[in-house]
Amino acid sequence: MSTKPQPFESAHRRAWAWQSAPLRPGPQDIGIVEDWVSMWLQRQGAATPSARKALLLGVTAELTALCEYHQLPLTAVDLSQAMIDEAWLGDTPMRRVIVGDWLDLPLAAQSVGLVLGDGVSTLVAYPSGLERLGQQVHSCLLPEGLLMLRCFARPAQAESVEQVMDAVRNGRIGNFNIFRFRLLMALHGDTPQIGVRTSEACDVFDREFPDASAFFRMTGWPPASLSTLAAYKANPAQYFFPSPDEIADTLSPWFELQETRTGDYEFAACCPSLRFVRRGT
Ligand SMILES: C[S@@+](CC[C@H](N)C(=O)[O-])C[C@H]1O[C@@H](n2cnc3c(N)ncnc32)[C@H](O)[C@@H]1O
Repeated sequence: MSTKPQPFESAHRRAWAWQSAPLRPGPQDIGIVEDWVSMWLQRQGAATPSARKALLLGVTAELTALCEYHQLPLTAVDLSQAMIDEAWLGDTPMRRVIVGDWLDLPLAAQSVGLVLGDGVSTLVAYPSGLERLGQQVHSCLLPEGLLMLRCFARPAQAESVEQVMDAVRNGRIGNFNIFRFRLLMALHGDTPQIGVRTSEACDVFDREFPDASAFFRMTGWPPASLSTLAAYKANPAQYFFPSPDEIADTLSPWFELQETRTGDYEFAACCPSLRFVRRGT
């Protein structure tokens, strides 16, 4: 696998600074994981040291910090050296990052007790990539190990692009990141098997708002947040927004869904946290 930076990666890194909650986990989301991890640790009792080991899918700083707080030995796996350079909190005796693919996890079988991820289901094809992810995570988890994912799920009632534009023009969207994701979800529609090319959102934005500075005067949002959308321009990425039920069904051969929780911040209904327990021995 090549780790050579792709042209869109530098744009993505510049955009990273403007990536904020709810696209990164906020205090309510971290509170949910915190509850679940605390419960899991209490139940662990005199479990083996391996059972305390955690795997992070990606390099989400908030989840890295949570593992550090609980003194969980952590391995993080991310495809992109550029993103690791930007967002990883650094290797320590208790944690390390590996450049690797979640769909071909570079971890030994049954070597961790907990797997965490934020926004992961949006980045793998539905259902084939999600199935492969389920299989890979199942393989590296110990029996009864837990998988905790915060997902970006399309709304139960699909929105049209026109509805999103109407909401933004009338001041009913709180920040640029929520606007961007509502637009992507509207373009995605009800077919997670197809997903959405992220560059489509750029085309729609340019068509609707040919004068970007007028858009930012209208919304009052920082013009630099446009970098999060501009990063999609040369990027061939597809996003997928399966519903929580679709995620649970797809993972069901390997995982049983134990609990779903959401916060009450704007857009929280589209950012549910799911806790799964590994099936089998
Ligand atoms: C975990 S996700 C979502 C970001 C999250 N909402 C946050 O703010 O932390 C983003 C990361 O996934 C990584 N990524 C995407 N697909 C991947 C794959 N198949 N294997 C490993 N890493 C992947 C990207 O390089 C990026 O750093």
